[in-house]
Formats: sequence, structure tokens, C-alpha cells
Amino acid sequence: MAEKLVVANWKMNLNPHQASLLVHRLDQKVTAGRSVEVVLCPPFVDLYPVARDRNPKKFKLGAQNIHHLDEGPFTGEVSPAMLQGLVDFVIVGHSERRRHAHEDDKLIARKVAAAVRHGLVPILCVGDNLFEREHGAARKVVADQVTAGLSLLTAAEIKDTVIAYEPVWAISQGDGRGSYAKPHEVEPMVTHIRQTVEELYGEGAGGEPRVLYGGSVNPDNVTAYLEIAGVDGLLVGGASLNYEQFAAIVAAAQAAVHSK
Ligand code: 13P
Repeated sequence: MAEKLVVANWKMNLNPHQASLLVHRLDQKVTAGRSVEVVLCPPFVDLYPVARDRNPKKFKLGAQNIHHLDEGPFTGEVSPAMLQGLVDFVIVGHSERRRHAHEDDKLIARKVAAAVRHGLVPILCVGDNLFEREHGAARKVVADQVTAGLSLLTAAEIKDTVIAYEPVWAISQGDGRGSYAKPHEVEPMVTHIRQTVEELYGEGAGGEPRVLYGGSVNPDNVTAYLEIAGVDGLLVGGASLNYEQFAAIVAAAQAAVHSK
């Protein structure tokens, strides 16, 4: 397993033509290395062109969401069975889906389990919002999201899961209006996430899932986040749409591994 994982969440951006263009540009800029696993998560309509045009030695693929059932009368949905063989990863429970699509912990747990059942690595997103943070509820909210999100998995399945800590108040702050999460704020939460997993699945389990940080990661702050104890990589939104910025983030992750 690579030592760092860098995941690009393109969110609802880029048509298939634009997605192909970005992949070609990324291929020119990003150098492949065994030490860092790079995953691109385009919108569903872009998955096929990105799969076709990417260099598979450099880029793995992920989806941004899945349905929790395999097939059926669910207009507009995409099932894990349909993604099998096309992607390796799937983002589940992103805060934007919790907020805008009203996904709750119960549904998210079913999606995580559906991903695992189909051999896809779930990237379970957890994170506190500003209100929760200001009212001292952040630790409980995050522990509850981790507990519920993993609740349908066995202990053996935990090591193939990824948990992304994305404080909602730190997402999309790239324009400088709001506040970035400071590494000293992220570190205790990452420890807390691992402790929660340890309590749920027993001794040693806390070290098993890969834990990512996400929220306004850019080439200037990336190294500070990678230096946080317990952080195995990054989930990158806005900066992943810019090939120069994303290539710089991947290069920083490679440098972080080699400087150890
Ligand atoms: P930004 O990097 O744009 O803040 O997005 C973070 C995120 O939500 C990734 O899933």
C-alpha cells in the first residue's frame, strides 16, 4: 500500500470534454511514484472518458456517491454493481450530500457496506459544522458519524476503508474569505477518530483505516497537513480542478514520504 493517498473530488464540475482535457494536463504534470496513490473522483458522466484517457499507472478512479442497493426502480441513481470494474474507490457521506441530499447516518452506513460488498474502497466523510464546533459538540458529532458510518462492517473490513475528516467550516475557503483548519485543530480530531475505531473494533483497529484530511487544501498549506500525526493523505476539492495546483499537491505528498 502506498504511504500517502491523495484524492481529487471534482464535485459538480467539468463536462466530459473538459474532464478529458484536465486528465491530459494532469498526466503531463504529475509524476508517477509508488509512494503516493492518486485517485480522481469525477462526476458520473465523466467517469468513462476519464477511465479511457487516464494513465492507470498514475491515476486510480473513484465515484462521488453510490446508491445502497444493487439495482431497481430508482430513477437517476447509480448502483455499486454498476461501478464495479470501473472505479476502485467511492466517496460516501460527503457533507454536501448530508446537507443538500439529506443523507443520514443510517443511509450512509448502508452505502459504506454496499461499497465494501462490491470490492470498492469507501471514503467515509465525517466532519463537524461551525454551529457544532462553537457549541463544543464537534468531538461527539464526529465520533457518532464514524460509529454509525462503519456500523455495518466487520472488523476485517475496517482496514480497507478510508475515513476523511472534513470540517464543514473549513471546506471551500480557498478564496480567502473564511478560515482554514489549523493543523493543531485537525490533529486531535484525527486521533479521536482513530480512538473511536479502536473502541469499536478492538486493540490495533484504530491504526487500520487510512485517515485523510480535507478542507481547502492547496499547494501552500499541503505540507503542514501531511505532517499531522495519523494523517495518511488528503481529500482535495477546488485545488484538484487546477492541474498545476493538484500536481504540486501530489509532489508535496511524494516529498513528505521521501523526507521521512
Ligand atoms: P475544498 O478543497 O474545495 O475545500 O473541498 C474539500 C472537499 O469537500 C473535498 O471533498
